[in-house]
Amino acid sequence: MPVPIIIDCDPGHDDAVAILLAAGDPAIDLLAITTVAGNQVLEKTTLNARRICTVAGITDVPIAAGCARPLVQPLIVADDVHGASGMDGPRFGEPTVEIVPEHAVDLMHRLLTGHPEPVTLVPTAPLTNIALLLTRHPDVAEHIREIVLMGGSTERGNRTPAAEFNIYADPEAADIVFRSGLPLTMCGLNVTHQALATPDVLARLDGLDTELGRICAELMTFFASTYRRLWGFEAPPLHDPVAVARVIDPEIVHCADASVAVELHGTHTRGATVVDLHQYLDRPVNARVAVALDRKKFWDRVIGAVDTLGRSRG
Ligand code: BDR
Ligand code: CA
Repeated sequence: MPVPIIIDCDPGHDDAVAILLAAGDPAIDLLAITTVAGNQVLEKTTLNARRICTVAGITDVPIAAGCARPLVQPLIVADDVHGASGMDGPRFGEPTVEIVPEHAVDLMHRLLTGHPEPVTLVPTAPLTNIALLLTRHPDVAEHIREIVLMGGSTERGNRTPAAEFNIYADPEAADIVFRSGLPLTMCGLNVTHQALATPDVLARLDGLDTELGRICAELMTFFASTYRRLWGFEAPPLHDPVAVARVIDPEIVHCADASVAVELHGTHTRGATVVDLHQYLDRPVNARVAVALDRKKFWDRVIGAVDTLGRSRG
């Protein structure tokens, strides 16, 4: 049976591919897409969710907009990485897919409590919506099977030397999620940096010979240019689909149990995830932490999903 999930995202090039993977893979039942401010302001991340759903023919999945700013600190965006639109590269027409007139947190609460079985949450953005959901509606806990998120790192950061963007953008929200006691899987930079969209991947997407395949290749080409300019990467890492891939097949993303704490007060380390893989600290395990990626299986599933959606689009 497909696993029911809700993606909470800030599209974002890699968020867009995470949506395609979730919508196009038979192992997933995508119940909803919720958006949050992150890579760009909320209006833009929500528009981008509508854009990618429009070009992929995803018309039966509700999209709801959530929080426009972090819980405590001012908003930061990643326009240096994702461009002025938050999803620069392809030319998108006017989206035809609309959002539902409901706040993301209310939609999540309604879907979770109404679903016959517990649902997996897949956040691929700052954790503002998820933290608000858990604090405003403590009753949802029993309806959440697990939270499988993209964020943090066992190593260094990408927004500061210590902190990864999704955690750094709202550390208080991340702290609430990591201390929630819910089953949690963290897919951080240490593993998403193995999901590189190398030229052979772009060639496979182009070779699908569909409009959607070409749009994905264009997204990754823009993403490649910023990763080359900012970090000297030879190919861009597709962070967010890694979390979806973990739900699809745990064999794609290998994990280790660890205690994870979010640094809130460090002078130079605010937003860092302190991952105790070697049990130095006497702290209970609160997360499964991704440590290795099966790159071939990962790209086969991503390209398979893009192919499925692209073909059904005609
Ligand atoms: C994360 O930050 C965003 O820029 C990406 O979409 C991803 O979710 C990587 O640090
Ligand atoms: Ca993201």
